[in-house]
Amino acid sequence: MNKVVIMGAGRVGETTAQILAEQEICREVVLIDIREDAPQGVALDILQTSPFFNFDTLVRGSNDAVDLSDADLVVITAGIPRKPGMSRSDVLDTNVAIIDGIVDDILRFAPNAMILVVSNPVDVLTWRVWQRTGWPRKRVFGQAGVLDASRMAAFIAMETGFSARDITTLVLGGHGDSMVPVPRFCTINGVPISHFVSEQRIQDIIQRTREGGAEILALRKNSSAYDAPGASVAAMVDAISHNRKRLLPCVAILQGEYGQTDIAMGVPCVLNEEGLAEVVQLELNQEEVSSFQRSAAAVKQDIDRLRA
Ligand code: LAC
Repeated sequence: MNKVVIMGAGRVGETTAQILAEQEICREVVLIDIREDAPQGVALDILQTSPFFNFDTLVRGSNDAVDLSDADLVVITAGIPRKPGMSRSDVLDTNVAIIDGIVDDILRFAPNAMILVVSNPVDVLTWRVWQRTGWPRKRVFGQAGVLDASRMAAFIAMETGFSARDITTLVLGGHGDSMVPVPRFCTINGVPISHFVSEQRIQDIIQRTREGGAEILALRKNSSAYDAPGASVAAMVDAISHNRKRLLPCVAILQGEYGQTDIAMGVPCVLNEEGLAEVVQLELNQEEVSSFQRSAAAVKQDIDRLRA
């Protein structure tokens, strides 16, 4: 992939840019932000790590939407983050206005790009971007499940002492309190986690995963998480850039899958050079289906607010 543009040079944008550059996931990374000088400063700082990490990725900062031109992929991280005690939905109105402006810039300067939405509430905003662009869903998707699954994997690693490398987890649904970690699909190198972890502890891990973002916000106090979010975005960009055909949980527009339409939420997807090439339908059991439906209802509520 040649050019990735990151809208928003805040902490998530910066961390993503650093990883994309360091791992040479694309040739050029451009950070665009409305704050004067800020994206230029971030870009310079990242560039100055190049002797340590041996990369020659081009990294630039800009305040001008014209620099979206020729982007293969645009990552949207702009928006206000929540403060301790706020839900992701509490920042909806402010962030919709910001994201709408960005989408108009993308339509003007990068009409052939793919869009990866990261700003919160990510499910609703992914839906909004899809609506506003009118593009096929394979070019408009969001990041949430990769992060939530990485949190769950870290908690299982902490619980069992096993290497996180061997832990596979799956989290579906909306990126909110009703998200759906699915322990049935969680393994340690193929062995179900129930072999190592008691039912009670699995329930504790599920709850901690659901509150994973809030836990970090409460500890950091003046910042949401950004290390794992940046790594999660970079993993998705890498899958697309290298046409890896990875199976990752992504925020996808559902068109009948899981009994849902006209909604965006987390489901297992195939990522390749086309973007979100496919939504994979799993056979969920009764309990998983009702958790998924509960989560869908929460996302729908916010989407309906935007329709009103
Ligand atoms: C989180 C926020 C960023 O999950 O949504 O950390």
